[in-house]
Amino acid sequence: MIFVTGGAGFIGANFVLDWLAAAGESVLNLDKLTYAGNLENLATLDGDDRHTFVQGDLGDATLVAELLTRHQPRAVLNFAAESHVDRSIHGPEDFIQTNVVGTFRLLEAVRAYWGGLQGSAKENFRFLHVSTDEVYGSLTKDEPAFTEAHSYEPNSPYSASKAASDHLVRAWHHTYGLPVLTTNCSNNYGPYHFPEKLIPLIIVNALAGKSLPVYGDGMQVRDWLYVKDHCSAIRRVLEAGRVGEVYNVGGWNEKPNIDIVHTVCTLLDELRPRDDGQAYSRQITYVTDRPGHDRRYAIDARKLEQELGWKPAETFETGIRKTVRWYLDNPKWVANVQSGAYRAWVQKQYT
Ligand code: NAD
Ligand code: TYD
Repeated sequence: MIFVTGGAGFIGANFVLDWLAAAGESVLNLDKLTYAGNLENLATLDGDDRHTFVQGDLGDATLVAELLTRHQPRAVLNFAAESHVDRSIHGPEDFIQTNVVGTFRLLEAVRAYWGGLQGSAKENFRFLHVSTDEVYGSLTKDEPAFTEAHSYEPNSPYSASKAASDHLVRAWHHTYGLPVLTTNCSNNYGPYHFPEKLIPLIIVNALAGKSLPVYGDGMQVRDWLYVKDHCSAIRRVLEAGRVGEVYNVGGWNEKPNIDIVHTVCTLLDELRPRDDGQAYSRQITYVTDRPGHDRRYAIDARKLEQELGWKPAETFETGIRKTVRWYLDNPKWVANVQSGAYRAWVQKQYT
């Protein structure tokens, strides 16, 4: 089996669903269920004994050691993190605890487990760390996209904590020989995305008749990747990535935020027009910019393509249409997330 941390969050849950559909191999899923963890994301796995869920902290060394010994995974994939830049600005402490201290504790537990493996189990074991392009800092308009050789220049508490975790992972390979792989991915979007992030926030606010907040001039550029393409990239890196290597994952979809917001509005105009027939773009409101807002991210994913033959399957146009449709088709998921009812569901299910 494989051991996933953070598998009730946006990307982790998509990965678990995707993994079980594609590979069929069992998954042990450790997630603390912070506000971002939602077991409703995994509701389709109810009764599927290939999925074992444990509520807990990746920094709980005793729990993690016990889970490793009991389940004997062939790989550990670390998705768990505090992931929202705006939250990291208001309260960085949790980011340091989970992303830095938690990753350190996880690495130590995994190192002890891996050290006790023998023969091919030891040789084939992998620790895959899921990280972000934000560790590389911000690009100007004309600079080339981030390659794996780009220097680390994190600018937010979130990206600094992820950068620190990447460095720990690197050091555990170089110092202790732990067989690690690191992926640095651009902005994801798709189903089960918590509506504090740009794309789901715009969709749910638009439908609720609320304003669509665009930070600053809206000309900040992100490089968008459909979440299922991220999942396939991680599967490929786990399968064939060279130990100790870093792979950048991106969708070749650089877009200014304001274009993203207009695209979502146009899709909603088509798929769920406003009652008054007016355009959703009327709800766009420019608001005060995020402090230290990175101007542009862009990923050069050629290494992953050339070495491992991975390419995204979705264009932005196909991925964003699927995403908007998913939110329109899943009003209960949206309502439960917004009301906090998903947390009550967890209580009912797990206590
Ligand atoms: P998310 O915030 O949606 O989910 C994070 C999950 O981790 C949640 O289920 C949460 O309960 C869990 N978690 C948090 N602290 C924990 C702890 N101490 N112990 C155990 N579980 C804990 O985040 P996401 O968007 O799914 O991101 C997953 C990973 O991918 C993160 O490491 C993030 O840095 C990285 N990443 C995200 C993006 C993106 O666009 N969302 C892009 C690149 C990389
Ligand atoms: P976000 O989804 O928070 O991802 P990240 O900060 O990790 O890139 O934000 C994506 C972009 O959208 C980012 O440039 C900030 C901007 N943004 C807004 O303009 N308005 C919003 O309400 C949010 C949440 C983000």
